[in-house]
Amino acid sequence: MPSTDHQLTEPVMGPAEALSELFTPAGKHNPYPLYDALWDLGPVIPLGPSGTLVLGYDEVCTALRDPRLLVTDADVHRTTGMIDHSSWQCFTKIMMFSNSPDHERMRRFAGWAYAPRQVAEHRHLAARAAERWTARLATLAEDGPLDLVEAFATRVPITVSGELLGIPEADRMALRTAITATTTAFEPVFDRGELAAADSGMDVLVAYLGSLVRERRRRLGEDLVSVMVRDRDAAGALSEEELIASLVMFLIAGVQSPSDLIGSVVRRAVEHPAVARELATDDGLVAAFVTETLRHDPPNHVLTRAACTDIDFYGHRVAAGSRVLLVLAAANRDPRRFPDPAVFDVTRRDSRPLSFGLGPHYCLGAAFARMQVEVAVPILLRRFPCLALAGPPSFRDQLVTRGFARMDVTLGTA
Ligand code: HEM
Repeated sequence: MPSTDHQLTEPVMGPAEALSELFTPAGKHNPYPLYDALWDLGPVIPLGPSGTLVLGYDEVCTALRDPRLLVTDADVHRTTGMIDHSSWQCFTKIMMFSNSPDHERMRRFAGWAYAPRQVAEHRHLAARAAERWTARLATLAEDGPLDLVEAFATRVPITVSGELLGIPEADRMALRTAITATTTAFEPVFDRGELAAADSGMDVLVAYLGSLVRERRRRLGEDLVSVMVRDRDAAGALSEEELIASLVMFLIAGVQSPSDLIGSVVRRAVEHPAVARELATDDGLVAAFVTETLRHDPPNHVLTRAACTDIDFYGHRVAAGSRVLLVLAAANRDPRRFPDPAVFDVTRRDSRPLSFGLGPHYCLGAAFARMQVEVAVPILLRRFPCLALAGPPSFRDQLVTRGFARMDVTLGTA
């Protein structure tokens, strides 16, 4: 199954040139030729005082486990002034952007919520959501091609997370736009105005979840918000702001990346109809297919770390305070680790892509995300075995949190 996004374009370019191209709309749409160009410069590329770029698989693993490379927390965002923005005010109160000891405190508090045993209990929610939105597709398709991102890929995860968090049905779809908007804050910001959409999205989510927390405190239920309110009030392990920020994070992470992954898996499936037919019925193949999609085109391309001291990293000096950009999507195509890395090959063994990170910040929701995708996509493909793209899908203008803006499909005869 050859990949279509790997053609090497121009002769080798310098790191600065390739990096600046990476964050143009064309670069974000298809960054893989640029990763190839950068790969020619080595698995670790010094970018001068501003930082270091890491592309190699082993090198990214080492960086993610190195206690001297920290996530960009409130202290970092205070020095850049980003913390004045409501998006980063909230993000710096969550575990993803906290270092020791706050990170461990928060992870201990909420870690159980998406543990494999809990996830297994939520399987029926994913199946019910997928059946429901699949059934609706048939009625929408009478009007011609439909946007699968809008009608399915985002709806399944928001329905599942909405059920878990106890968000009333009527409110869920309105929160979707705000969720996607907040993820633009993860992109490099060249002008603070670029944070406006993320800030307004965050204001909506913080206000909404804040009022849900107050409501649950008046009358506790069985949902995750109720359990977290009860646990917080009993143990005082989180501040009120941290509690709300954690719930905001569960909503954003619980919806955006799973939705992007559903889009990617469906796209690969429709490009390979013979495999898609097998996917609909073979549970073992679904897991391998999702893993290979995560490797080949992950929902999150870049993670950032900040060095807390001077470091010698594979022979390169990383100065204290400088940034280290870890390109997960390039590491997942490191030819030393993955033979023929551009080829989409579901038969790879012991693949272990880095798409959920590694080390202390390894994705808390990995099992939950995979479960939703592995349940939802076969339900869709069983109902619509002739699903086909009605045109080239378009990406959102984002690289750190990457996914389709729109994917027009025809359902074919079922
Ligand atoms: C396909 C879907 C997903 C992908 C690709 C993904 C990817 C990632 C990655 C790469 C990290 C590491 C961040 C870092 O090291 O800086 C991460 C962390 C995290 N993810 Fe996910 N994620 C997904 C779904 C989810 C879901 C469904 C949830 C929860 C509902 C979730 C919650 C988290 C949390 C809380 C962290 C921070 C963990 C920590 O700092 O200890 N993610 N995710």
